[in-house]
Amino acid sequence: MDIFFQVHKDLPREGPGSDGSTRKAFGLLKGLPLNPRILDVGCGPGMQTLELARLSGGQIVAVDTHQPFLDDLACRAQQAGLASHIITVNQSMSALDFPDASFDAIWSEGAIYIMGFETGLRGWKRLLKPGGCLAVSELTWLRPAAPEEITAYWGREYPPMKSLDENLAIIQSAGYRDLGHFVQPPSDWWDAYYLPIEKRVAALRRQYAKDPAAQAQLAEHQREVDMYRKYADWYSYVFYAMQSV
Ligand SMILES: C[S@@+](CC[C@H](N)C(=O)[O-])C[C@H]1O[C@@H](n2cnc3c(N)ncnc32)[C@H](O)[C@@H]1O
Repeated sequence: MDIFFQVHKDLPREGPGSDGSTRKAFGLLKGLPLNPRILDVGCGPGMQTLELARLSGGQIVAVDTHQPFLDDLACRAQQAGLASHIITVNQSMSALDFPDASFDAIWSEGAIYIMGFETGLRGWKRLLKPGGCLAVSELTWLRPAAPEEITAYWGREYPPMKSLDENLAIIQSAGYRDLGHFVQPPSDWWDAYYLPIEKRVAALRRQYAKDPAAQAQLAEHQREVDMYRKYADWYSYVFYAMQSV
């Protein structure tokens, strides 16, 4: 199996986050009906999908292109007694074929970067009912003039990364009202994401001790974690909540 999938297989999450942040972001949304219909884009293993089902009591349509994530999520939903609230769909976020105005809210944790923040906001808007809400988390510069090492790192890994103010301006120009935002705390990065990754990387380093190509890939995974450990004051995932206008 590819080293990437060996690092990521069966992690609790596929990006920084927590049930606490999902709850906090859900609390920012306005005007949701009882039992809303929510699209969760790039759901991954679906920790936030389960929490959304619990919070909303509605119907969550969870979309991803990696079928094993969708299968795992369907199992977890069954175990949690939430199967009747969650539908999994294998579909690309850049070609969602739901009719216009299908959803009361759209959710996406750590995944809109795949399309691009602005492209996602603009492209998904047609899927929202009038006044529908969107909540997304996006990697964001928290302060200007970051040190060269971290600017160069993210300049290579995610060149479109923007500042908070730039993202707020995009929200407005894409036809949404800002409902609030918050910086995700360090525990969102460590508890269910980077600590499990570090543990997995250490084990795989021992397993592939004599494989230089695998060691190089594992070093890249560790480097991302080390960058956050050193430069967490300069960037983070930020949760943005907004309402279609
Ligand atoms: C960084 S992970 C975030 C997963 C999850 N939301 C979480 O926070 O744990 C991004 C997810 O997007 C999915 N993905 C990648 N390309 C996609 C696409 N074109 N359409 C839909 N999902 C995609 C990946 O399979 C992965 O599950």
